[in-house]
Amino acid sequence: MEQQKRYGHFDDQHREYVITDPQTPWPWINYLGNEDFFSLISNTAGGYSFYKDAKFRRITRYRYNNVPMDNGGRYFYIKDGDTVWNPGWKPCKTPLDFYECRHGMSYTRITGRKSGVEASVLFFVPLKKWCEVQKLTLTNQSQEVKSLKLFSFEEWCLWNAATDMENFQRNFSTGEVEIEDSTIYHKTEYRERRNHYAFYHVNTEIQGFDTDRETFVGLYNEFSNPDAVVEGRPRNSHAHGWSPIASHYIEVTLQPGESKDFVFLLGYIENEQDKKFSAPQVINKDKAHALIAELDTTAKVDKAFAELCEYWDSLLNIYKVRTGNDKLDRMVNIWNQYQCMVTFNFSRSASFFESGVGRGMGFRDSNQDLVGFVHQIPPRARQRIIDIASTQFPDGGCYHQYQPLTKRGNNDIGGGFNDDPCWLIFGTVAYIKETGDFSILDEQVPFDNQPGTEVTLFEHLKISMNHVINNLGPHLLPLIGRADWNDCLNLNCFSWDPNESFQTTENVSEGTKAESLMIAGLFVVTGKDYVALCRKLAELSAGQGSALAYGEEADRMQQAVDAMIDAVKKHGWDGEWYLRAYDFYGRKIGSNECDEGKIFIESQGWCTMAEIGAEDGMVAKSLDSCKKYLECEHGMVLNSPAFTKYIYEYGEISSYPEGYKENAGIFCHNNPWVIIGECIAGRGNDAWSHYAKILPSYVEEKYQTLHKVEPYVNCQMVAGKDAFRPGEGKNSWLTGTAAWMWYTVSEFILGIKPDYDGIRIDPCLPETAGDYTVQRKFRDAEYDITIRPNGSQKGVKRVVLDGSAIEGTVIPYTPGKHTVEVEM
Ligand code: GLC
Ligand code: GLC
Repeated sequence: MEQQKRYGHFDDQHREYVITDPQTPWPWINYLGNEDFFSLISNTAGGYSFYKDAKFRRITRYRYNNVPMDNGGRYFYIKDGDTVWNPGWKPCKTPLDFYECRHGMSYTRITGRKSGVEASVLFFVPLKKWCEVQKLTLTNQSQEVKSLKLFSFEEWCLWNAATDMENFQRNFSTGEVEIEDSTIYHKTEYRERRNHYAFYHVNTEIQGFDTDRETFVGLYNEFSNPDAVVEGRPRNSHAHGWSPIASHYIEVTLQPGESKDFVFLLGYIENEQDKKFSAPQVINKDKAHALIAELDTTAKVDKAFAELCEYWDSLLNIYKVRTGNDKLDRMVNIWNQYQCMVTFNFSRSASFFESGVGRGMGFRDSNQDLVGFVHQIPPRARQRIIDIASTQFPDGGCYHQYQPLTKRGNNDIGGGFNDDPCWLIFGTVAYIKETGDFSILDEQVPFDNQPGTEVTLFEHLKISMNHVINNLGPHLLPLIGRADWNDCLNLNCFSWDPNESFQTTENVSEGTKAESLMIAGLFVVTGKDYVALCRKLAELSAGQGSALAYGEEADRMQQAVDAMIDAVKKHGWDGEWYLRAYDFYGRKIGSNECDEGKIFIESQGWCTMAEIGAEDGMVAKSLDSCKKYLECEHGMVLNSPAFTKYIYEYGEISSYPEGYKENAGIFCHNNPWVIIGECIAGRGNDAWSHYAKILPSYVEEKYQTLHKVEPYVNCQMVAGKDAFRPGEGKNSWLTGTAAWMWYTVSEFILGIKPDYDGIRIDPCLPETAGDYTVQRKFRDAEYDITIRPNGSQKGVKRVVLDGSAIEGTVIPYTPGKHTVEVEM
């Protein structure tokens, strides 16, 4: 194996990943912001900012797929004599005496040192504020006086990130700015329908500025050598059209040992329609002034930063494990939970692989993301569930995506993905188990956001289940529709036109026999949850008329679940594993009879989680087949053997080269399904070995160069065994893997499962596991749990709560602090 270079390391005490070489194999990014204002920032300060919606409210510009990759961002140029350098190394790439980037919880600190000057920039978005703070500290570590010229740089995006990159006949004439003291305002289109503007401010007097890109950079120069910087002379340019930017020019003198702070603020403001202007054509800056005043000193900024750190302390105090295995602890206690917050916030919209213009919030994606997030901030999870359910149609189907700014279903993508409805049960049940808040089920929620159509959320859950029942195929298995979880298994699509999108082209639904075993398993798992929920509701409403109705509903769904189990056993078993699907014509997919794609992971995951046919040995056989046919050094591949040619009846899956993406890539998202299947079956050794293969901290140790992408988070896909370079990662950050890894480790491996009445303890561990503790805040209680596995993989023998043994394995919920001792 080739030598794996290392580019950084974990610093668990500070909850940071420390990058020590700017030339990482791919930009290693972080996310700033927690609610409305967000930024992406790479280890060389590349990236961009937006308000709520990466498509419709893009504040700064970013060019995708650039050469070099990751060009553009928030840059500080320091001119020291004839040398120009940046603290983050890029874009000048002047060799630094020291470089370090620390990605932490919603902040990034980049430090560079050159010829006795240190520049350290702390980037973060303060809680509840619509701005990014960039606190730059310049320190003279030399023995001589330093006279430096400092230039800041941001490039504005003309708000709509999609048209910003294509509609130049208009764009080059619309750009407008205002300059007032040390603040540069971006107000393109403010005169007409827009009531928002952005600004870039610094809390010191400036000696010049630039706002027109070509004047600052020079038409034949690049970010690495802008004219103004090279000459050390700002042009005080005022942009009219073309490409507006914001650059401050500051002259700084530092005595030996002296240090100075500069607070740069990138802010976003919305004005009321009747308060837009302070004079004709002059924007009303009151709100900007107020925001600036809140953050115009180092002390204020430090306070805001301390608040952000406290916020993360409290979030990460909810679930804390101590196993003695640092690699596990840091993922559970820090990075996995952090990534869950990020996927909750962004769904699949904005990353260095998702352009922010293509996808909004996914119905299935965001429901799954909830499971990783619900323990962190339940009220936000609650709102999200309502938002998602509001995009459902009266028949239970739903928009596949919605735009975060408008919260309206995205017509371009449409619907018809027949797994979508089930995920609403999955997300909602997780929320109620965490919080005990059954009242969410009574919320009035519309269809397709149409006022007047509201029914209760419970009704939405019911029609979700019904949607599956009402769309069964010839084997009484669920019809797949446009696709199920696997967006690329397009069984009703039949596309020969390379310009057609597999996702949106007209599907042939008339006469289709295309059925999905993945949805079948999903239906059984979520159906059991739904039945249990109805029984719980019946219990809670005992003595009232509704108790009976809930009881009947539970019975009705139990029958449907049983029927589905029968159908899978009869028509979904291939002898050694579960089939994947039936195609349009009713032919088997994922069968030993097929030439390629004989076995698929999704149905193994869902049908083993559902324990379908466990009593007949199906579960154990299926799990064994995953090890035998899907597992490789880097995880389990999605299907095997990979498809080597395009199959018209299968669609996008067979359009990918072997080993990539849905064609036999290690789609990390679905590895946890099999791991949970292993846990439910009590096979702790196997569960752990699958888990460790895709656990970032283990990958970090072995494969930094090969893997390429950020070693502190999961990526969507790692090239599989049939790929040219197995082990290469892609599509980092925004993936359902985050929530599934969390759900797997927190509930199934470590075995701390929130339930309606308390916390169920049910670990499944490798037999080598030692004793460990979990501190878990749960509603108004706090449990200090010690688990002694005693060499056993599964099976809790004894639970002692506050000194007394309890019956069963559910610690009943009571507010207050408790200690729990568990023997396996
Ligand atoms: C992507 C999508 C997700 C889909 C998966 C498999 O991760 O975001 O919705 O389930 O690919 O196709
Ligand atoms: C899945 C794939 C993704 C693709 C999408 C739509 O999510 O993983 O690559 O863009 O389907 O085709």
